[in-house]
Amino acid sequence: MEKRLKKKLMGLIGSYRKTGNSEIVAKAVARQMGDNWQLSLVRLPKLSVAPCRGCYACLIPGKTCMIEDDLAWLLEQIKQADAVIMAAPNYALGPVGIVKMISDRVLQAAHYFQAFQDISTAVVLTLGLEKYNGIAQTALCVQTASLGLNVVSVESFVGTHPGEVARAGSFDAKVEAIAEALIRPPADHEKQAGPGRCPRCFSDLFRPHADGDLECAICKSRARQNGPDLDFHYFDPEFTKEGQMKHMAWLLGKKEEYETIKDELKAIREKYRDGEWEKPGEES
Ligand SMILES: Cc1cc2nc3c(=O)[nH]c(=O)nc-3n(C[C@H](O)[C@H](O)[C@H](O)COP(=O)(O)O)c2cc1C
Repeated sequence: MEKRLKKKLMGLIGSYRKTGNSEIVAKAVARQMGDNWQLSLVRLPKLSVAPCRGCYACLIPGKTCMIEDDLAWLLEQIKQADAVIMAAPNYALGPVGIVKMISDRVLQAAHYFQAFQDISTAVVLTLGLEKYNGIAQTALCVQTASLGLNVVSVESFVGTHPGEVARAGSFDAKVEAIAEALIRPPADHEKQAGPGRCPRCFSDLFRPHADGDLECAICKSRARQNGPDLDFHYFDPEFTKEGQMKHMAWLLGKKEEYETIKDELKAIREKYRDGEWEKPGEES
């Protein structure tokens, strides 16, 4: 078998813009990682990615998704990688939609969870204004991690025009930190999420919890606010790797349950079958 001399860094670029900010960050990180790494790029919005149909067929062992688009190809490409950069712009206070379209195919991606958990992944958000982050950075982390990838670094780069991100004084230091995290990925307990972030899932979104804590909106870890810091003291087992495997088993059980209650559900659905559906190109 032919031996690969270089390690493969896969840049998943969420932006349609050629040589835009997301692409520039991915290329800068690759350069920083040095000659042992080869960067391969995929422009996500150029792929054909259809909506998940919610049929759960891909959950059944040995079965794959029936949709014929580029998702299976993309998952195979990612599988070949030694490290990944998911670099995507903020659109309307969230990550650009193509990333969500891909993460919605999470059940198809679940076949790759075992392989993907060893792929160190950097999440890079580009955005016009820090204040207009909204849910974008956390959502981009969640959507990347939902594919099973091992997120080791989360960073954002501010700039509106293509190329503008590289004008910032912090550009080189951020690029170096991302490259370092990808070359020498920290163990789970060593991950530096940064202040105000959940150390487990990198979320910066929290809800007030009944006992006065702040609860991570994503993985339900709990923290007490200590001045500007968050002291985390609880991590929900549901959101460990084992918990997620159990969740997949639960989903498979739901798929099996469907066969046993199908007739009852059919009777319910029958009552709601009617409806006037408008379609483009048809007279209303
Ligand atoms: C349709 C659209 C919506 C945007 N929404 C936001 C936003 O909500 N918050 C923000 O900070 N920047 C927003 N931006 C700015 C981009 O995130 C920013 O220009 C980014 O650097 C683009 O990265 P790219 O060059 O990789 O495409 C938006 C840009 C576009 C085109």
